[in-house]
Amino acid sequence: GAAELGPYRHYMQKEIFEQPRAIGDTLEGVTGIMPELFGDDAHKIFKQIDRVLILACGTSSYAGMTAKYWIESIAKVPVSVEVASEYRYRDSVPHPNTLIVTISQSGETADTLAALKHARSLGMHHTLTICNVATSAMVRECALAYITRAGVEVGVASTKAFTTQLAGLFLLTLCLAQVNGHLSEEDEAAHLKAMRHLPVAIASVLALEPQIIAWSEEFARKENALFLGRGMHYPIALEGALKLKEISYIHAEAYPAGELKHGPLALVTNEMPVVTIAPNDALIEKLKSNMQEVRARGGQLYVFADVDSHISSGEGLHVIRLPEHYGVLSPILHVVALQLLAYHTALARGTDVDKPRNLAKSVTVE
Ligand code: G6P
Repeated sequence: GAAELGPYRHYMQKEIFEQPRAIGDTLEGVTGIMPELFGDDAHKIFKQIDRVLILACGTSSYAGMTAKYWIESIAKVPVSVEVASEYRYRDSVPHPNTLIVTISQSGETADTLAALKHARSLGMHHTLTICNVATSAMVRECALAYITRAGVEVGVASTKAFTTQLAGLFLLTLCLAQVNGHLSEEDEAAHLKAMRHLPVAIASVLALEPQIIAWSEEFARKENALFLGRGMHYPIALEGALKLKEISYIHAEAYPAGELKHGPLALVTNEMPVVTIAPNDALIEKLKSNMQEVRARGGQLYVFADVDSHISSGEGLHVIRLPEHYGVLSPILHVVALQLLAYHTALARGTDVDKPRNLAKSVTVE
């Protein structure tokens, strides 16, 4: 009811602003990296596996796609990510030494549960879930689990569940790296420090809300939008586009920025807003030339940069700077800005933000 909402207009807004608390709770008590965070048998299982298969739906599958970048680069374990509803209906080649990782806010999504059973029927018995509901079917069905502490999520569009899933998946990455001898004590200490600082870092992104509101007033008048990201921010672009579609009903698509020239550039006119995630990482120079391709066609760029990305506003180029560059954990910060953009755009369009048409919070039937 209204009492629970406090100063917020919608559950989604409240849940976006709860993220510093949700991440803090999810990582509470993690004083060191150890497989036992995932269960008593985790060390034994992590020793036996030599690849990871992530199965999830919707927003949870984008958390999985982000984790693929982390796990392959930090733990050096090959990862594939499949949408649960497709995996169970195709012939795939099973590999017994696979760690099956399901990701689910509710732990009751029918497609994800069925995909897990399908993997098991193919002889893959090492199972782990990142899940927000400790008493769910998913947690009962998996050998290992990390329970995120987002708390009850009411808004149909997932926000705090996503960022806490990322926190859990980053812990999994570090545990796999450690078991495989790829995590030095210095790296462990540095990652733990960055994780502990996340609530403060997220709060500084939330403080950008007034600037994002100004953008949302322009977005509210559009019917299409493109989202660009590169590397581990490509799944974040997908999630930003999904958020906008779900609650504002604006048609949005996401591309890894290098793919622009292979098709979506044809859509770019001065009517097309192009949201670009531009952290100051190894791909920033490549990304800047992708942005130039958009500008040359009159496209309107809306860039989420970092303090040190060296991108300044100009004709057709709008910039909001995130206060710090956050290295490998940067996706967790950038997605918060995109959640706010979707939320305020939907608010300006007057949609039913917490209960968007045709969608359900948890899809327990096929
Ligand atoms: C539904 C929800 C999405 C969610 C997806 C997967 O489609 O509307 O927000 O991402 O299910 O749900 P899960 O509970 O498995 O994460």
